[in-house]
Amino acid sequence: MPFINDQFGHNSDQLARQTYAQSAARISRFKFLPEQVIATLRARIVGQRDVMNAIEDMLFTLKADFGDKTRPLSVMLLMGPTGVGKTETVRVLAEAMLGSADELCRIDMNTLAQEHYSAALTGSPPGYVGSKEGQTLFDIERIKGSFSEPGIVLFDEIEKADKSVVRSLMNILDTGKLTLTSGTREIDFSNTLVFLTSNLGAREQADSLKSYSQGWRSALRLKPPPQSEILDQALNTYFDPEFINRIDRILPFNWLDDGQLEALVDLELMKLNKRLSSRQAQVVVSEGAREYLSQHYDTRYGARDIARRIRVELEPKLAKAMIEAPEKKEFEVTLQSNALVV
Ligand SMILES: Nc1ncnc2c1ncn2[C@@H]1O[C@H](COP(=O)(O)OP(=O)(O)O)[C@@H](O)[C@H]1O
Ligand SMILES: [Mg+2]
Repeated sequence: MPFINDQFGHNSDQLARQTYAQSAARISRFKFLPEQVIATLRARIVGQRDVMNAIEDMLFTLKADFGDKTRPLSVMLLMGPTGVGKTETVRVLAEAMLGSADELCRIDMNTLAQEHYSAALTGSPPGYVGSKEGQTLFDIERIKGSFSEPGIVLFDEIEKADKSVVRSLMNILDTGKLTLTSGTREIDFSNTLVFLTSNLGAREQADSLKSYSQGWRSALRLKPPPQSEILDQALNTYFDPEFINRIDRILPFNWLDDGQLEALVDLELMKLNKRLSSRQAQVVVSEGAREYLSQHYDTRYGARDIARRIRVELEPKLAKAMIEAPEKKEFEVTLQSNALVV
């Protein structure tokens, strides 16, 4: 009787899942399930297989919960060119672990490009004119997390910050603590996942590949140096060894290749449909239109170019169609004489 067998299979599956969840709860104060988190990440981030594997290792280690209590739970440096998923990876991780992509403390290091801006991290010294003592850019609650959830902090584009800002990060990585200059308060990073992102070395990598693919180097069939060597060199030129030593894992992101573009288009369209669902509307995109969106794309901007093209080439036409037919639920997007039509 296949039905009963199916049912039995289903029940025992469910039982296995429950037992697993129970035993996972016994070994860990953390409530996230590593398998679920990594499955979400793999579904939402295109490519970057090695990065996903490293994050999977980190998640299981974290879940087992035997880490050193005097430093952050983990320190990861995500490296690679622009628009390949570095920031998105941390946002999706926050969504999968904490319920929302915004449940993290993001520090845009671009805004800390000048020396005195390290005061924005540690608070300004007592008596410093124009700003309140002990005030900091950090969102302290999000850094602390809670008993059952880690906090997440993202130092985005660290190469943009002044060296003095980077130096004040050293303490965090080292001791898991940051004392604000007012001296009265301390931020505790010992329950925090620390992520740093950087595009250091990305340009050198691209230049190297290019110079070996043409001219005399190509004629002599010389092989370019390994990409990881170029990355190491860029990293060592820019940061002190003490800083690099305090990073647990350095994760190089790859350039996205043509084969991954359609998957990216699908992801962006899925996001669009998610936004549209609050208006009870959906787009259905023809094969031709989908192909069109994944072609003619500018590698300099990575996947960002795809999102931009959906925004400027598709969304205005969709908006018009929606305003003309407010009752309509499904909008077909097709390609006609090399332009999108809704
Ligand atoms: N590998 C990827 N998988 C899925 N989406 C990506 C990927 N790379 C980039 N994107 C999309 O492109 C946009 C820019 O990516 P982002 O992660 O911010 O780039 P960066 O690597 O410069 O931090 C994001 O909105 C994201 O949706
Ligand atoms: Mg980024």
